[in-house]
Amino acid sequence: MKYLITSALPYANAPLHLGHILEIIQTDVWVRHLNLKGLEAHYFCASDTHGTPVMLKSKEENITPEELIQKIYGLHKNTFKNYNVNLANFHSTHSDENEQLTTEIFKKALDKGFVYTKKIKQLFDNKENMFLSDRFVKGACPACGVADQYGDACEVCGSTYDALDLSDPISTLSDSKPSIKESEHYFFKLNELSDYLSSKVDELSNQSPIKHKLKEWLDGDLKDWDVSRDEPYFGFKVPGEENKYIYVWMDAPVGYLSSIKNWCDMNEYDYEKLLSDRDTKLVHFIGKDIVYFHLLFWPAMLHAADIENIEEVFVHGFLTIEGMKMSKSRGNFILADKALEYANADFYRYYLSSKLNTDISDINFSVDDFVQKINSDLIGKYINIASRTQNFLTKHNNSEVKQNCQNETNKYKDLYAEIVSQTNDREYSKALKNIMSIADEANSYISSMEPWSKAKDGDIDSCIEICSESLNLFKDLTILLSPYIPNITGSLFKLLNLKQTDYDQISKDCLKEVKPFKAIITRLEKSEFEGILN
Ligand code: 2FM
Ligand code: ZN
Repeated sequence: MKYLITSALPYANAPLHLGHILEIIQTDVWVRHLNLKGLEAHYFCASDTHGTPVMLKSKEENITPEELIQKIYGLHKNTFKNYNVNLANFHSTHSDENEQLTTEIFKKALDKGFVYTKKIKQLFDNKENMFLSDRFVKGACPACGVADQYGDACEVCGSTYDALDLSDPISTLSDSKPSIKESEHYFFKLNELSDYLSSKVDELSNQSPIKHKLKEWLDGDLKDWDVSRDEPYFGFKVPGEENKYIYVWMDAPVGYLSSIKNWCDMNEYDYEKLLSDRDTKLVHFIGKDIVYFHLLFWPAMLHAADIENIEEVFVHGFLTIEGMKMSKSRGNFILADKALEYANADFYRYYLSSKLNTDISDINFSVDDFVQKINSDLIGKYINIASRTQNFLTKHNNSEVKQNCQNETNKYKDLYAEIVSQTNDREYSKALKNIMSIADEANSYISSMEPWSKAKDGDIDSCIEICSESLNLFKDLTILLSPYIPNITGSLFKLLNLKQTDYDQISKDCLKEVKPFKAIITRLEKSEFEGILN
């Protein structure tokens, strides 16, 4: 079985923030977990480069979209690395592979009659000489009347509508009043695929709030999807057209496949074979705001393209900061790279994972809670096991671990299996809670056995035995934690002289020899977090 796993492609218009990191970590933990189980799993991502977000930003910066996406590509790739993410490939939707695959899918959908053309009326900016996409126009919401709403949805009452229905529309590009103009567009027959999608989405999602939402959409009137845009547009041309472009939300998910294809070409894998293999599973991790695109549009596109092995779409909630939606104007915005000036990447990985599970409610990051959680769990419970025991072995036993000291470890065999299965089910908060409960018990064992008193009293054998028992337990916890905090555990494996690790080594193998303990992580102080919020 091969798993091809993706997280949503970030727009190439800004650096990543902590909200992106939440999803990236959720994905990376799962990929690493599958690898520990001995399964082949690869993580693919790419820059989402086309359409309005990038056009707006490049205009603002007075550079070309190409220059902008190149700059942001480098930043994004680096941030993934900074957060210890085990990416197989980070590609771009502005690539040859993506143009080829998107055009192929578009043509196939046209040939099969899934795509048709019709004339529609749209708002047109006469000063800028262009049609206005939903994000380029603002006006009063047709449902509640509140002013200053974008052309697709009202941020106040939540209703969605057509930009033509806004009262007093104004172009955000030129501040002028737009006119209404007609243009021919390509539409994807989503409505005709309602039955197919109803059966398909049941396979693709196991999360009940998502299933409910989809049922609501599918039971309602599914609108056909406008998949073309007029020029000027940064994107791929509609096949056979000179001034019409494919809508970004059509080429963006194809970017998942392009990243896989690009990786296949570099690694001498046969892309076609890999994708059509029944043993290949495609799994997407996304946020709850883009469910419509991934569970309706994307399966419909893949169906048109005869690619049927998308396996699962897994959805998480939003990240809030100090209890509120993250926003620059509110001053609670955290850039991913900036966060690393305040704490170790693995600390964020741990904290965010400790809040992730299968429900789609929002997840809060609070500095107080973060500092408290890291100090209490990773420093106070987990690393404490080694810091209290390891150096007795280097000092009194020539660094050797006494063999057959696995009585403590053996107590937890069932709980270890449960933790592995919780990570597998993406119930990370439960898995980490269980790991910390074992760490807690390990510390109680050490406190009650007092290896330091044994050493002081000259009972070196007992001291060595207690420390060996404790360190074998510590080794198991380190393996269980390794998908979550891979850098920290990587350094610890070196101190424990463990080369390769997988779940099979838990409770079975005994440590042989250790290096002197090093405090590779230290407590966080709340006072040092001044300025983390923008
Ligand atoms: O919402 C977003 O940030 C999009 N850039 C996600 C695209 S995911 C995929 F479809 F490419
Ligand atoms: Zn409204």
